[in-house]
Amino acid sequence: MTTGHVFIGTSLDGFIARRNHDIAWLTDYPTQGEDHGFAAHMAGVDAVVMGRGTYATIKDMRPWPYDKPVVVLSRSLAQTDVPAELADKVEIMQASPAVAMDRFAGRGWTRVYVDGGNVIQSFLRAGLIEDLVISRIPVLIGEGISLFGALDADVALEHLHSKAFDSGLVQSTYRVKR
Ligand SMILES: NC(=O)c1ccc[n+]([C@@H]2O[C@H](COP(=O)([O-])OP(=O)(O)OC[C@H]3O[C@@H](n4cnc5c(N)ncnc54)[C@H](OP(=O)(O)O)[C@@H]3O)[C@@H](O)[C@H]2O)c1
Repeated sequence: MTTGHVFIGTSLDGFIARRNHDIAWLTDYPTQGEDHGFAAHMAGVDAVVMGRGTYATIKDMRPWPYDKPVVVLSRSLAQTDVPAELADKVEIMQASPAVAMDRFAGRGWTRVYVDGGNVIQSFLRAGLIEDLVISRIPVLIGEGISLFGALDADVALEHLHSKAFDSGLVQSTYRVKR
């Protein structure tokens, strides 16, 4: 079985991007050379699964930022929309979270990095997230795209640990209770 793992930055008021998808408040935040565990997180997953919205904001990045396979969940994109230079790195998949995870398991992937607001929410609703590492940036942006949203039932979390970085960023790790 494949497990889903979230590693994400939010504003203190719980947003992952402004409505217009701007994340400069996050990417320009002075981190003092600290990667906040991102490289270790990437080393611990077999692949990244993200939503079309997140893919739209990173698809033009060069060099390509991922050294693991990236699966983009989308009903509106086709594989032919992926530029040739990313064709062996990015796969467009039309699937529910459960079906996607079954396919990943069939490939021998045991841990996937789940990214993108909507996609994280749908994987949470489907009970497919094992843990979340949430890094809070000390800024209020007032409105934007929320990390969390509507649920069919409460999701109880176990707080594993929190760490305050010199940069002012506070990172908390939670495990989803079963
Ligand atoms: N702060 C951070 O660390 C961080 C991390 C990641 C992303 N972001 C930001 O978050 C924004 C994107 O978040 P988002 O919530 O708009 O989008 P998202 O979760 O990245 O993408 C949502 C889209 O994915 C497609 N999709 C396919 N299957 C889905 C499923 N099972 N569940 C949900 N969506 C599915 C749908 O597009 P179709 O219409 O094509 O089906 C849906 O509209 C961007 O601005 C990005 O920069 C921030």
